[in-house]
Amino acid sequence: MLGTHDKSSFTLISLLITKALAQSSCSIPTSTAKYPAPSLASGYTARIIANGFQRPRSIIFDSEGHLLVVEAGKGITALTLNDAGGSCIGISSKATVIADTSLNHGIEMSPDGTTLYASNSDKAMRWAYDPKATKTNGNATILVQGMDNSDHTTRTILLSKKVNNTLLISRGSNENIDAIAADINSGHSQIRSFDIGGDTNSLNYATEGTRLGWGLRNSVGVAEHPASGGIYSVENSADNVDRDKEDIHNNNPGEEMNFHGYLNGTKANPDVQGGNYGYPNCYAAWNVSEIPQAGTLQTGSQFEIGDTINDKNCSSPIISPTLTFPAHWAPLDMKFNKAGSVAWITSHGSWNRQPPSGYLLYAVPFTTSGEPIASSNSTNSWQTIMSNPDNTKCPGSCFRPVGLAFDSKGRLFMTSDATGEIYVITATNGTGVDTASIAVDGSDAGGHSGSGSGAKTGEASTGGVNLALVCGIWALMMFFETG
Ligand SMILES: *[C@@H]1O[C@H](CO)[C@@H](O)[C@H](O)[C@H]1NC(C)=O
Ligand SMILES: *[C@@H]1O[C@H](CO)[C@@H](O)[C@H](O)[C@H]1NC(C)=O
Ligand SMILES: *[C@@H]1O[C@H](CO)[C@@H](O)[C@H](O)[C@H]1NC(C)=O
Ligand SMILES: *[C@@H]1O[C@H](CO)[C@@H](O)[C@H](O)[C@H]1NC(C)=O
Ligand SMILES: *[C@@H]1O[C@H](CO)[C@@H](O)[C@H](O)[C@H]1NC(C)=O
Ligand SMILES: *[C@@H]1O[C@H](CO)[C@@H](O)[C@H](O)[C@H]1NC(C)=O
Ligand SMILES: *[C@@H]1O[C@H](CO)[C@@H](O)[C@H](O)[C@H]1NC(C)=O
Repeated sequence: MLGTHDKSSFTLISLLITKALAQSSCSIPTSTAKYPAPSLASGYTARIIANGFQRPRSIIFDSEGHLLVVEAGKGITALTLNDAGGSCIGISSKATVIADTSLNHGIEMSPDGTTLYASNSDKAMRWAYDPKATKTNGNATILVQGMDNSDHTTRTILLSKKVNNTLLISRGSNENIDAIAADINSGHSQIRSFDIGGDTNSLNYATEGTRLGWGLRNSVGVAEHPASGGIYSVENSADNVDRDKEDIHNNNPGEEMNFHGYLNGTKANPDVQGGNYGYPNCYAAWNVSEIPQAGTLQTGSQFEIGDTINDKNCSSPIISPTLTFPAHWAPLDMKFNKAGSVAWITSHGSWNRQPPSGYLLYAVPFTTSGEPIASSNSTNSWQTIMSNPDNTKCPGSCFRPVGLAFDSKGRLFMTSDATGEIYVITATNGTGVDTASIAVDGSDAGGHSGSGSGAKTGEASTGGVNLALVCGIWALMMFFETG
């Protein structure tokens, strides 16, 4: 019989073996990360499944398990995965689905898998799609148009899973502080929903459809809570902000997560839906201690910028964020897990903060009834899952997270546009992450250099078999059996 000490050593050794075997049994060649391997929260692993893409942005699985990637300035590419289980994934082939250099971010798929949707700066379009052949019939139908801007050109599209034929489209501002967005009729900085049933086409963005919110500077991530149907977005807030003649841009304003009510059910139009979320007049506080005349502001309170300030202008009916994240994290995608207990969010990072901060994948716990667990003034509502080991190298030499997609096993796929890479993130034992429980710690709030809080360097670039580890463990096992 083993003693207590031996038992725990044995458990540890078994775990190490499981881990070593999980790595060593992957015979699919891994691509080497362009920059130093990511740091991962304990219990997670990441691997590059393919690289060499042209600014890969949003991704989605089709009904045959192909991963469709929007390559900005190129079109849509379908990847057939070579999937040996766990994180042991590569690609066996690539095929062009749509060659269209105007496509730059948005992608969606109908529930039956036979209609593909994509967007460029001006238009949201659809194509009949054959998931077995990964081909469209070549004819785009324009659903919504009139969205072009010179700045902020992505048009995130989201098909509601609660209300059929309802397409949400997010359009950002035309410049950092876009005065035109203060006009509700401009269609700038809004999220709107469109009924795309029947043969309706070429709807005008600013004047047709239903407004879900305005005063949303550039809300690139949009998601529908799988249980409640609540619509949430994550916003990229302003650069170079001053208040009362002080430069406060490094830690303010915060990036916002906003709630836009429901599309379905009796609570379809609560007070917030269609309301004004503040931009370009009001912004969310992140680091209150650096805001002059902060008064009673807390993290998440809306405040005015510029020389003459009256924060009363930013109270109700101006809608405050549900949660606020560090300034310049630039959240670009948000995907709920199946149960709706975690929102996974990518942070692309920004040139406008020193030291650089963000450039990571983070997870925010929700109640399964559809609200974030943290209160709106929280400064630690998330756990950092995957980050760059040294943010001082960003944005030049870092991976920059953009699009997310879960596969049917709950494994999470993520693009990095700056490095042309696609990663898969799993639990270390190879299972999916859709049931992972998240321990919020607010890590990486101030940006980090060195090895980062609670994160370790992952396997993403180490790739191959760790034979020495397996042999070492084997020797130890023998020792315990005979000792
Ligand atoms: C594509 O559009 C053209 C012109 O409207 C039409 O003649 C053709 O049948 C369409 N092709 C398919 C495959 O639907
Ligand atoms: C939505 O469409 C699906 C498939 O066509 C259908 O089964 C379902 O009943 C529709 N739901 C509603 C609310 O109309
Ligand atoms: C939306 O639909 C879901 C079922 O899919 C339901 O549980 C939820 O209560 C509905 N939301 C509202 C606000 O009625
Ligand atoms: C907030 O600002 C204070 C004062 O400048 C600074 O000491 C602190 O590190 C900042 N914290 C964050 C999370 O930005
Ligand atoms: C803000 O409040 C001041 C004083 O009440 C008022 O003069 C000003 O017009 C308001 N600004 C906006 C944008 O509402
Ligand atoms: C956050 O808000 C709660 C009430 O919702 C309050 O009790 C708490 O003091 C606030 N925390 C801070 C740091 O302001
Ligand atoms: C794999 O790891 C996850 C996260 O630690 C855990 O929840 C799950 O139970 C593990 N699964 C197996 C089969 O060991």
